[in-house]
Amino acid sequence: MRTVLLTAVFTALALPAFAALKIASALNTIEYTPELIASKDYFSGTVSITNGGVANIVSDTSIDLAANAETQALRQFANHKNLRIIYTVAEVYYRLVAAKKSGISALADLKGKKIGSFPGTSAAYFVERLLTSAGLKNTDYTVVSGNICSGAPCGAGTFPYMLQHGTVDAVGMWEPSVQLAIDALGKENVVIFQNRTVYREVFNLHSTAEKLQDASKRKEIVGFLQALIKAEQKFVQDPASVYPRVSAAVNVDTTVLEEVWPVHGWNTGTLPDDLLDVLVAEDQWVARTDRRTAMARDTLANLIDGSVLKEALAT
Ligand SMILES: *[C@@H]1O[C@H](CO)[C@@H](O)[C@H](O)[C@H]1NC(C)=O
Repeated sequence: MRTVLLTAVFTALALPAFAALKIASALNTIEYTPELIASKDYFSGTVSITNGGVANIVSDTSIDLAANAETQALRQFANHKNLRIIYTVAEVYYRLVAAKKSGISALADLKGKKIGSFPGTSAAYFVERLLTSAGLKNTDYTVVSGNICSGAPCGAGTFPYMLQHGTVDAVGMWEPSVQLAIDALGKENVVIFQNRTVYREVFNLHSTAEKLQDASKRKEIVGFLQALIKAEQKFVQDPASVYPRVSAAVNVDTTVLEEVWPVHGWNTGTLPDDLLDVLVAEDQWVARTDRRTAMARDTLANLIDGSVLKEALAT
């Protein structure tokens, strides 16, 4: 009996206070960087962040957390009902930049034009929402795919290059591709459209029902969420202090970062009140894109689990 007890004590002592958390996140996006600062400055455990997103957490059980836009969460939730949104890291007010030389001064002028965006992503959904708000149908314009750019000079095949060379008339994307397109053409030669009522990206942190049911894993996740909130307070209150590391992490010049910072609404402890409404509306589009039936509101309600954030804020 005594031996068994001692063995148990030694085993417990041998374990670190926090085991390692594994996160999947797209390492070339500005939205991911609060996770990086949180893991370095505010979290006592070990974190490894691998390139990816929600597609990874649903297929690889070694991953504890994943970050992505709401669009990819809907795509994966359709077949993986254990996926959970636990926190909104950022709300990003996507922009569409159009070339004046293409004869564009209002959104309705995009009729018959070519728009650079990523099909099937939050960017393409943003473009459709924005143009629908101006009375255009998705058959009224053409979406052309391209590559993102992190810094000037943006090479052939990137969205800023395509706009500059007239391959497209406009670009609707996440940052900094839009900012670099504005810079490439010159502010005086473009029109910028942005309407956060019509669309803003809701960039979330996810886990799975299984991870959240595991008491010790859940404790680590709560700890990481607390660290993430602290990191984001820094992003809001003293952005200059994180620019050098954010810049190095995503390879974006600090001058460009400074310009696109206001496009990003960093969250410091909330899930948006309208998150379920956003998911219900957007799933109509994701379902059409993925050729499946849209999910019911009751089903989509299970994608959101606000209990982890509540614990993080309470302790
Ligand atoms: C944004 O969109 C809403 C809803 O369509 C509209 O009422 C509002 O006027 C738009 N704002 C701007 C600045 O265009």
